[in-house]
Amino acid sequence: MAEDRPLNHDEMLAVLDWYRAAGVDVAVGEEPVDRFAQRPPVRSVLLQAAALQPPASQSEAAPLAAPAIGADPAEARSLAASAQSLTELEAILGQYDGCGLKLRATQLVFADGNPDASIMLIGEAPGAEEDRIGKPFVGKSGQLLDRMLAAIGLDRSKVYIANTVPWRPPGNRTPTPEEMALCLPFLHRQVELVAPKVIMTLGGPAMQTIFDTTSGIIKMRGKWANLTVGRHQAEAVATLHPAYLLRNPAAKEQAWQDMLSLKLKLVELGLVD
Ligand code: URA
Repeated sequence: MAEDRPLNHDEMLAVLDWYRAAGVDVAVGEEPVDRFAQRPPVRSVLLQAAALQPPASQSEAAPLAAPAIGADPAEARSLAASAQSLTELEAILGQYDGCGLKLRATQLVFADGNPDASIMLIGEAPGAEEDRIGKPFVGKSGQLLDRMLAAIGLDRSKVYIANTVPWRPPGNRTPTPEEMALCLPFLHRQVELVAPKVIMTLGGPAMQTIFDTTSGIIKMRGKWANLTVGRHQAEAVATLHPAYLLRNPAAKEQAWQDMLSLKLKLVELGLVD
């Protein structure tokens, strides 16, 4: 039988090590919360969203379906396609239980910035700060991103920011291909609904997802392509992730070239002076 005594110093460190190895590296509360018990099932959210849709005579859009839940990319596609606005997409994602990342995240990190912007930035995944606050790029790498944007006259009122997955992977690991595949239909729909003229991806995983390639970021960064993302076409370019730049300051020179190239593209497209 286990002894009922306080842990000593070494035992406490061993417990913390064990938690860290399991990906539990942030304390969010003293009491466990059963989030499944708090949530209405996705079907009722979809039906509420369907009730908000205009009648068929005003809209050609098909009524929202209410498919069953499970880790099935086809289901994710059907749910994502049913969103007629970013607000609906966020609500549907908030109720979506198909991606396991959600289970260990504090909350959904959907987007930040201006939904009417012509520029969309796509990062990899929320980190600890983003998970706590509920917005992308609010931690150290977000602060660097803000400085990169400011260097070419941009700020969050002029860009829209999202991630390839909207929940924090435990321990900040890279999302698995399965997790990304389940979240991709939602990201595609987000791109369709924002309809940016220009997309900039941040880091390797976001670049590989959006450019649909297995090439590395060092080879791909700075090269413009006219991409179809979901059913939306945009000019797209990849740059290095701000977190990588924080670890490798020498690479900032390359990122600066990419930001200048972004600025030139915006001028060329008549999106800034
Ligand atoms: N890194 C990302 O890729 N996204 C965030 O939102 C924060 C850090």
